[in-house]
Amino acid sequence: MDVTVGVIGAGIIAEEHLQAVEAVEGLHALAAADIDEQKAEKLAERYNTKSYTDYRDMIKTETPDMVIITLPHYLHKEAAVFSAEQGCHILLEKPMALNTAECGEIIQSVRENRVQLMVGHIQQYFQENRTAKQIVEQGELGSLVMINETRHLPYFTRERPRWFFEWSKAGGGIVMNLGAHCIDKIQWLLDTKVSRVMAAMTYKGEEPGVAVDVEGSGLLFIHTEKGIPASISLSGYEVVPKQVTELIFTNGMMKVEIGKGVWVSKSGVYEKVASTKEISPFVRQLTDFVRAVKGEGTVKKSGPHAKSIIEVLEAGYKSHEQGEMVSLPPERREDQP
Ligand SMILES: NC(=O)c1ccc[n+]([C@@H]2O[C@H](COP(=O)([O-])OP(=O)(O)OC[C@H]3O[C@@H](n4cnc5c(N)ncnc54)[C@H](O)[C@@H]3O)[C@@H](O)[C@H]2O)c1
Repeated sequence: MDVTVGVIGAGIIAEEHLQAVEAVEGLHALAAADIDEQKAEKLAERYNTKSYTDYRDMIKTETPDMVIITLPHYLHKEAAVFSAEQGCHILLEKPMALNTAECGEIIQSVRENRVQLMVGHIQQYFQENRTAKQIVEQGELGSLVMINETRHLPYFTRERPRWFFEWSKAGGGIVMNLGAHCIDKIQWLLDTKVSRVMAAMTYKGEEPGVAVDVEGSGLLFIHTEKGIPASISLSGYEVVPKQVTELIFTNGMMKVEIGKGVWVSKSGVYEKVASTKEISPFVRQLTDFVRAVKGEGTVKKSGPHAKSIIEVLEAGYKSHEQGEMVSLPPERREDQP
């Protein structure tokens, strides 16, 4: 029997998820819900589903096996907890929630209601990052000594939904939004957790008609439990777009650019690594989740992993405010599998 799906939030990223639903065998999209009736109807029309303006009605009426939550960050917790209470498995967009307390509530509700939760940390599903992880694990380049991650993209654009610029709705700016991807990538690539963070940010974003109170740039210096340091440089002003991860080893270097490729150097010159055919990361992600829903796989670390990312981001904001390095509490390391 097909696994049935309801989509909560019919905004920009919902489309990627519905395309993935169409591409994964054994899935059937029932309905899409958005508080904006036109958006819900438009998406429903394109994907031949029903539309709702209230996701609670959608879940109660359609009783989908799983939901995909693509709401603004401040609504992640309430929608995830409601969905879990209704017995729906949950694929929840990143970042998991506004803060660690909300992440804890989601994890507890998912456990109590015995549903599967995956937080959509999509970086793990890009072919370039998977190739990079294999190279790190093979150890051919020697010991990894540091990672430098750079992401520049125009953040304060007309196309970006306005809620991204309000702290109360987004939980932060470019660091919360894109930093979540960077922290996920580093922790996943190295199979470790961040143990301390030092950060400096700027708050100079402007948008006509919006009281922008989120940061537009951030520089983070982090240390992992494996003793490997990393820098994350994020900026969203008038930039030349760039998205590059460089990993520095004792016997060489590796460069990773999503959508472009992976390069390795053993003698001072980068050479491109042959890559396998790219499959949509959203299809890969959903395939993994559906296997878990069917009891054929597991996503059991996804909630704690996603919560650990919010913990690092919270520590980053605290470090910026206090002007000093912030250590993550030791109990965090004990309770994360
Ligand atoms: N994985 C990725 O690469 C990626 C990319 C973009 C966005 N995201 C994440 O996806 C989420 C959504 O981002 P987006 O860019 O699609 O935002 P968006 O604003 O385009 O979509 C959110 C939708 O939720 C709707 N909404 C608001 N309140 C609602 C409510 N109470 N009930 C029902 N619908 C409601 C809005 O009308 C909007 O259509 C965020 O968590 C964002 O960080 C992830």
